[in-house]
Amino acid sequence: MEQYVIRGGSPLVGEVEIGGAKNAALGIIAASIMTDDVCLVENIPDVRDTDVMLQAIESIGGTVEHVDRHTCRISGGSITDQRIDTEYIKKIRASYYLLGALLGKYKKAEVPMPGGCNIGLRSIDQHLKGLSALGASVKIQHGMICAEAEALTGAHIYMDVVSVGATINVMIAASMAEGKTIIENAAKEPHVVDVANFLNRMGANIRGAGTDVIRIKGVPSLHGSEYMIIPDQIEAGTFMFAAAVTKGDVTVKNVVPKHLESISAKLQEIGCQVMESDDAVRVVATKRLNHTQVKTLPYPGFPTDMQPQITVALALSKGTSIVTESIFENRFKYVDELVKMGASIKVEGNTAIIDGVEGITGADISAPDLRAGAALVIAALAAEGVTVIEDVAYIQRGYEDFHLKLKALGGSIELADSDREVKKLKLKVS
Ligand code: UD1
Repeated sequence: MEQYVIRGGSPLVGEVEIGGAKNAALGIIAASIMTDDVCLVENIPDVRDTDVMLQAIESIGGTVEHVDRHTCRISGGSITDQRIDTEYIKKIRASYYLLGALLGKYKKAEVPMPGGCNIGLRSIDQHLKGLSALGASVKIQHGMICAEAEALTGAHIYMDVVSVGATINVMIAASMAEGKTIIENAAKEPHVVDVANFLNRMGANIRGAGTDVIRIKGVPSLHGSEYMIIPDQIEAGTFMFAAAVTKGDVTVKNVVPKHLESISAKLQEIGCQVMESDDAVRVVATKRLNHTQVKTLPYPGFPTDMQPQITVALALSKGTSIVTESIFENRFKYVDELVKMGASIKVEGNTAIIDGVEGITGADISAPDLRAGAALVIAALAAEGVTVIEDVAYIQRGYEDFHLKLKALGGSIELADSDREVKKLKLKVS
């Protein structure tokens, strides 16, 4: 099991290039199989979740040609099977997009119940409700979601909760349904818009993505296209907070500043300077940060995927802060690890009450999930002494070359692949 060995205490300084948005890529890769033509998809982040999605497509006969590290030619023309059952696909959340894509194209799909980070119940009832409304019969049997339809027909669907996954999934399937679909109370995240733009480039007719009402006129077939995925809002936000927590000066390049507004606003509120240009954001922190209150909300609110990172910043800020998690009910598991490092945080239900401390110290900890894992790395970079973080595979699911990018900014972080290596690296970094 790979581990990070980190010595904290150096401010991060320099420039970092942000990759393509993982959560957009997962929807786009799945949607690309809805045509028999070839889709050229650029700016795919090279992370475990996208690798698993591409392998799943190959497992049912689709072809994936890796043009370079971030570009693939994907074709669904040779798909022979609508049942996906690879060992790894069970572990990722976005496997559900293959349900929408296969059902939309072939009117039949079987995919495993989704896995993903253990951050709460993560029901899929809105996905099933949406696909059923389009006329599919959907059953859960032996751990698989099995969906089938004679024909898919457009419908008026009101989402009971704002769900990124259900919005994208229903949008994918409805793009090839007969007639009009309206999705109300839709999610507005940038990746919802990106998947809609990609589908439109393939010949779909989707309007309103980015607002809470999406209108889709189904088309009988889609065609090949070329598409560049948007930058990853959460990877960018993570580096912005890494600069803030280490009292650094980092220019985060290749971003859409508009997508980062809620993150930039909180950083400014707690005392950082944030300077925006066309496609970059520079974050400078020169002194101890201030306390605040924050509640996670669907876009354009403060993202739940940035909740652990802001908690780390507030753990080291002046005064008492409150973080309320309103999207997932079990997203504070990493707090125990931060407390081991000397943070003073109490969790009551979906709220963390944080008494900012002046400093934290290195410890042996483990990453409980993707975003919390990244936040613990940031904490370790700000801590006094050495931290060893186990289970970094979670972090590698969503961050490409995370430790290399941090190293290039001056962070002292090494990747170890055995306990023996950890011992050696501990000596090296200290
Ligand atoms: C996606 C992201 C994840 C992010 C989350 C919220 C991917 C692969 N993952 O996850 O990184 O944290 O959006 O921005 O893109 N819900 C239901 N029924 C459903 C679907 C969702 O009750 O059918 C609830 C969930 O339990 C949760 C809330 O709705 O409380 C939001 O979930 P959703 O937006 O669907 O998150 P995911 O698509 O799983």
